[in-house]
Amino acid sequence: MSFIEYRELIQDGDTAIVFLGHDSMFPVTVKHGSQTQTKYGVIRHSTDLIGKKFGSKVTCSKGGWVYILYPTPELWTMNLPHRTQILYSTDISIITMMLELKPGSVVCESGTGSGSLSHAIIRTVAPTGHLYTVEFHQQRAEKALEEFQQHKVDHLVTVKNQDVCKSGFGVSHVADAVFLDIPSPWEAIGHAKAALKTGGGRICSFSPCIEQVQRTCRSLEEHGFTDINTLEILLRVHDVRTISMQIPDLGKPSGDRASPASEGNEGSKQMSASQHPCETFKTGVPPRETVGHTGYLTFATKNLF
Ligand SMILES: C[S@@+](CC[C@H](N)C(=O)[O-])C[C@H]1O[C@@H](n2cnc3c(N)ncnc32)[C@H](O)[C@@H]1O
Repeated sequence: MSFIEYRELIQDGDTAIVFLGHDSMFPVTVKHGSQTQTKYGVIRHSTDLIGKKFGSKVTCSKGGWVYILYPTPELWTMNLPHRTQILYSTDISIITMMLELKPGSVVCESGTGSGSLSHAIIRTVAPTGHLYTVEFHQQRAEKALEEFQQHKVDHLVTVKNQDVCKSGFGVSHVADAVFLDIPSPWEAIGHAKAALKTGGGRICSFSPCIEQVQRTCRSLEEHGFTDINTLEILLRVHDVRTISMQIPDLGKPSGDRASPASEGNEGSKQMSASQHPCETFKTGVPPRETVGHTGYLTFATKNLF
């Protein structure tokens, strides 16, 4: 199993996602002889997982069933062990697009955090690109490297344990894009510029507070970046529900329509409305509450000159 290519059969040592429902999933490391408890009973790795196809429906010991899914960066983002705040797929998708990431791109990132964005970047730049990710918290840097190794993408990423504001990314003029998710991004803009290719590139900084955005924009301008703009992406998920509604009587087709004089009084209209049969159909229901703010995404371009 690797996060950058697909394999059909589950093997010993793989990461897999146990899917109990859209709001209930968790990752497991498949291990010969191991067991995993779920509310539907036990999953025995040797007999229930190893050798089965990813996507299989597996019956647990109490008779309930789960799906075993191949891990994608999107599923990993939904299920990874949180060591920090993380970026979610809505922001990740716009970052990937606005930084113009593609197979072969070289990207510098800081901080690594829980590796949510890192996995998505690696999948996008594979098989020929590279991610340089900088994290000053030693255990987080070590854990991220461990996960990249387990997910068989470590050849596509270099993890550096250092302060990006003091020591930069450890590379010069190699990056097509730089991404910052640190509390003081304005202190790393000079290092970001040095990491970007001499021919230019794109930068993005994620900050929850507008005061951080203001300082970052000032620093970007001072360092000669252009095309500076800040976005906030809010996700609105519409629930699909089955509802019952009376179909209103819009009258007979024109030609057969009765004259207003023959329609009768208000009471008889109400009577006929209440006799209309209910129709059952699917509809999209918008959320009752507005989704919360995650952060502002500030993008800019380093030009050739
Ligand atoms: C919010 S987390 C990043 C989450 C990450 N984008 C993800 O999707 O999982 C911020 C990380 O930046 C690290 N950090 C903060 N300042 C830093 C600095 N100056 N140099 C390197 N890492 C830094 C923190 O230790 C933390 O792990």
